Amino acid sequence: MKNLLLLCLSAALCASFITVRAAEKEKKKPAVDVSKLPPPSDKKDVTYAGDIKPIFDKSCVKCHGAEKPKARLRLDSLPGALKGSENGKVIQPGNSAESTLVINIAHLGDEDDYMPPPNNKAKIGPLTKEQIGLVRAWIDQGAK
Ligand code: HEC
Repeated sequence: MKNLLLLCLSAALCASFITVRAAEKEKKKPAVDVSKLPPPSDKKDVTYAGDIKPIFDKSCVKCHGAEKPKARLRLDSLPGALKGSENGKVIQPGNSAESTLVINIAHLGDEDDYMPPPNNKAKIGPLTKEQIGLVRAWIDQGAK
């Protein structure tokens, strides 16, 4: 009788463990608190060529350039950035708070998606609040 009880108990524990693991796998995108995003810069006429390319060249293009771009995302040209990755668009022109790229560089959401990846071998550090603000302004102004 005691053994049966133990068996039932461990089966129940096992089942709940599996359920929890399955639920963890399900939630791919954790809710992002966009109020934590650095505010967009108030600079006018922000463009890829004038403002954004220098930032991407320094912090992103090592992994998102012509050679084996990670996630097939190229950030070394405006058309590449607008085209997006193997998973789809990462920029929503006019809406920086809904743009995957902004969430990733602001280190919100899933830790696996932080960009640049923390502790990367190339030792490329995170973007500053000012840089993120500029990227936001660029996207909000239409990503030209
Ligand atoms: C050291 C390499 C490295 C650097 C530097 C880097 N990335 Fe990434 N990036 C990756 C890798 C690897 C992935 C794919 C992650 C995955 O698939 O889980 C990725 C994925 C992404 C994605 C998601 C693509 C998608 O739709 O899944 C975005 C957006 C992105 N990077 C933007 C940037 C930006 C912007 C910068 C510069 C501020 C940057 N990355 C710098 C390695 C890098």
